[in-house]
Amino acid sequence: MTINLLPMATQDLLWQVTRNPAAKTDAERAELLKDPGFGKVFTDHMVDICWSEKGGWHRPRVQAYGPISLDPAAAVLHYAQEIFEGLKAYRHADGSVWSFRPDQNAARMQRSARRLALPELPTEYFIESLKQLVAVDAAWVPNQDEASLYLRPFMFAKEAFLGVRPAAKVNYYLIASPAGAYFSGGITPLEIWLSTKFTRAGHGGMGQAKTGGNYASSLVAQAEAYENGCQQVLFLDAEEGTYLEELGGMNVVLLTRDKKLITPDSDSILEGITLASIMQLATDRGYTVEQRRVSLAEWRDGVESGDIVEAFACGTAAVITPIAVLRNNDIEIRMPDVADVDRVSLSLREELTGIQYGRVADRHGWLVKLSA
Ligand code: PLP
Ligand code: COI
Repeated sequence: MTINLLPMATQDLLWQVTRNPAAKTDAERAELLKDPGFGKVFTDHMVDICWSEKGGWHRPRVQAYGPISLDPAAAVLHYAQEIFEGLKAYRHADGSVWSFRPDQNAARMQRSARRLALPELPTEYFIESLKQLVAVDAAWVPNQDEASLYLRPFMFAKEAFLGVRPAAKVNYYLIASPAGAYFSGGITPLEIWLSTKFTRAGHGGMGQAKTGGNYASSLVAQAEAYENGCQQVLFLDAEEGTYLEELGGMNVVLLTRDKKLITPDSDSILEGITLASIMQLATDRGYTVEQRRVSLAEWRDGVESGDIVEAFACGTAAVITPIAVLRNNDIEIRMPDVADVDRVSLSLREELTGIQYGRVADRHGWLVKLSA
């Protein structure tokens, strides 16, 4: 086991890197990288940074991936004071490894932290954590087309205390998981279940934060979707049940035949970085982008009249995946059957992944190099 003390980009933190003595062999790793699926295989190391009310952020470490020991009274287990992020590391043709707009994930994690009364991890620590982990686990970044290393930063209340107040002891972690397509069908158009029984988040709630509770709240609705043969669930607004919000783990976008991209605006959905990037790429193509309230009736009527020609889901895990149908027991909106070569959604996907994998010029300066 080797211990290196590496100076961090930021002056005040010194990283301790301890190699995993039981790291996978090259042959074991190659086997796991063949068909990793999504979120099932993990690399050899993880990042751990402590925070305390008195000491601030301290003791940044890269160590062997493995169980986290928690006091049974740790606040997160009782009051769910937890946030996370999701982004990917992409291998380019020259072997270098890059991330896509990690500053945006860092900023969103800071917004989530404010909502959950957690400490904000400075952007430079966040980005340094990605670089430190990829430095030791670079061999885990897949080479195959459309595969990547999914990076999962998270932070939670570790203090053992049952009183309800923000924890005085918190840890930030980063784990990584080689990933293929999120949906087993790849980019086969999705069937989406429209949830009218459950909502995900409401006005003034935590919908804009990337916190476990929002996903816990989506699980029964997602289970209903699976039972009905759908891959994802769409939530409507909690107040009226009239307006589109988002899917369990993705944003939703509609495209019109007169080159408009329409996506819901709401204070209870996650501000997607994939969505923001797609809005920019569509603007560059001369599309008008409308982020505003969008009712279910507008979607239904737009498809009926032929104005709305495509719908898709977007997010880090899903990238861009077309939607074939939105349905429940009372409603069915079936999207027109468009050939793949004519789908604007797939051409946007091609451009976005082209930038991420270094095949298309990064004209907006979105890529950050993690390792040479
Ligand atoms: N909405 C939800 C609920 C999500 O979980 C995600 C995925 O992270 C998104 C939207 C899309 O966000 P992003 O594009 O930043 O991954
Ligand atoms: C992501 O896309 O990063 C997410 O967090 C969504 C989740 C469904 C995996």
